[in-house]
Amino acid sequence: MTVTAEASPSLALVKYWGKTDAGRNIPATSSIAIGLHDLRTTTRIRFTNERTDSVRIGGESQSLDPYLPVIEKFRPASDSSHRVEIDSSNSFPTAAGIASSSSGFAALALGLDALFEAGLSQEELSAIARVGSGSASRAVFGGFTRWGRGEASAIRLHSDDYWPELRVLVAVVNTGPKPIGSRAGMNHSRETSAIYPVWVEQSEALVSRAASALEAKDLEALGLAMRESYLMMFSTMFTARPPFIYWLPESIGIIHLAEELRDSGLPVWETMDAGPQVKLVTDASSITKVREALAASFPEVTMIESTIGGLPRVTIE
Ligand code: PMV
Repeated sequence: MTVTAEASPSLALVKYWGKTDAGRNIPATSSIAIGLHDLRTTTRIRFTNERTDSVRIGGESQSLDPYLPVIEKFRPASDSSHRVEIDSSNSFPTAAGIASSSSGFAALALGLDALFEAGLSQEELSAIARVGSGSASRAVFGGFTRWGRGEASAIRLHSDDYWPELRVLVAVVNTGPKPIGSRAGMNHSRETSAIYPVWVEQSEALVSRAASALEAKDLEALGLAMRESYLMMFSTMFTARPPFIYWLPESIGIIHLAEELRDSGLPVWETMDAGPQVKLVTDASSITKVREALAASFPEVTMIESTIGGLPRVTIE
């Protein structure tokens, strides 16, 4: 039997950055996110007679360490049978701040559930995926999600087709390795940034504002909350000791471009994650103009366009 599980990355509009329990990936801040429908991770899993599990991403062998805690939720560590072979690929650049770990661990949890015939609920799968990567707790659902501070699993806020006019344009500035991974980065912010407590305190209000804006389908109100969230999250990195900076010159250029486009009347709001890529959230009637403006100012930057959705899918052969 081979299981194929697909999931889409979860893009946070209001960010998770910091844990109350580092070992278990329990978040210190609530987050609100959307599934990027047109970006997919596809993971094929089957049992193998080999003596160890194996994980490949894009054909390249990976260290098992990050995956074993998830695999062992389905197969107890004491069980020496049932080794699994995992072969995953992304339709977009891996490990470049496009949340490939969210779709990757969501697909892994969903696929293992089918392979081991565990029959777990979405809530349980969200909690398992979270152990691999916090944002994967949201990617298990697709659509519009919320993951509350202190919560073991995320919830669905709205279905995948709730706001069909919404569009995301990912501006891929650089796909090289990041200075620091999100896990180490958020711990470093928590341990050394003087403004980390302010970030944690203020992020709850941002989540409420974003949730109300989603309810009202008010892109401007959503955009304002989004901007405050990512800029404050990055402020905890700039004020860490030593500071760390994911932004590249093009990232800042695109932030300014989004501002100019808003001044000219286009509804476009940017956000960023643990990498130099800029994600522009806009609507269907503005996306072509946003693309044209980006291509004119940054011809080197690759663009990936997506609608919102990204429900996971599992097939068994
Ligand atoms: O899922 P992790 O542990 O890689 O952390 C994700 C952190 C951000 O992408 C920066 C924010 C978020 O909420 O997805």
